[in-house]
Amino acid sequence: MLLKTNLCGMKLKNPLILASGIIGVTKASLKSAADSGAGAVTIKSISRERRKGHEPPIIATEGDVMINAVGYSNPGIEEAKMEFLRLSEVGVPVIASIIGKDAGEFAWMAKNFLPGEFSAVELPLSCPHTPGYGMLAGQGTPGATLEITKVVKKQTKLPVIVKLSPNIQALGDVAKAAEKAGADAINMGNTVGPGMFIDPKARKPVLTFGFGGLSGPAIKAIAVRCVYDVYKAVKIPVIGTGGVATGTDAAEMLMAGASAVGIGSAVHYRDVAVFGKIAKELSALMKDEGFSSVKEMIGIAHE
Ligand SMILES: Cc1cc2nc3c(=O)[nH]c(=O)nc-3n(C[C@H](O)[C@H](O)[C@H](O)COP(=O)(O)O)c2cc1C
Repeated sequence: MLLKTNLCGMKLKNPLILASGIIGVTKASLKSAADSGAGAVTIKSISRERRKGHEPPIIATEGDVMINAVGYSNPGIEEAKMEFLRLSEVGVPVIASIIGKDAGEFAWMAKNFLPGEFSAVELPLSCPHTPGYGMLAGQGTPGATLEITKVVKKQTKLPVIVKLSPNIQALGDVAKAAEKAGADAINMGNTVGPGMFIDPKARKPVLTFGFGGLSGPAIKAIAVRCVYDVYKAVKIPVIGTGGVATGTDAAEMLMAGASAVGIGSAVHYRDVAVFGKIAKELSALMKDEGFSSVKEMIGIAHE
């Protein structure tokens, strides 16, 4: 009860959302996150055609930091349409995630991949390691964000969430462009960097692609600062994503201004049961600190 909240019309039992790409390639994996306690779940990003992604190894960890260059491997729209049917069986709202090389492809994806079953759609304009998409395709500028968000809004009635990169300097300007174009929420944000690990024995980068986006507990302070900045810049709700692994981390995000909290790499650090664990920890923290609703915490660090 304490954790119940609302995001873009979605009724959530708690503010914890499975972030895109960690699991979420299948309906069964979405359900496992929901069963473990997630308030909502996001599918892995889907492109028009099937994509193989980068050559493995594509993920590596060193302590609190994870680095990935998955390269948007996904089955493509036709197979994804077959996979993500009867989504009410997942038990919590399911957020779609679509990618495109340009505004035209985003519009096409929105038109063709969003049947009535999804509760919202996310546009990651922010991947730092996939040529042709996100940051490497210039989608992180105010102009591109405005154009892509506008064309997607024309194609769907679903709430549109724009996912931004913590690498953007003028974050407020990009968030404002998304808001102006009609975005219903900002997801702040994607992975940091890119960065690189080198294997001293092999004398070359650990990831075959060379560099990848940083995630996990080590990026939390950057993500919290970005949420704080975006909360000041726009009126639409913000989903705080990056490095959240505990109830205290989730509370920090809410206090920075997030209305909901994305959780990705923590599934690796604390397994898929992480959603239930964080919900329990957040609820205990709220009781200790005298909060009676999530709403009371949102943006309180600004006061
Ligand atoms: C292995 C892996 C794959 C990811 N794939 C996607 C993806 O397909 N689409 C997307 O929008 N974000 C993707 N992300 C980014 C996450 O959704 C999240 O924004 C980021 O990892 C920061 O949150 P975290 O520290 O909780 O993981 C991926 C992250 C990881 C680690």
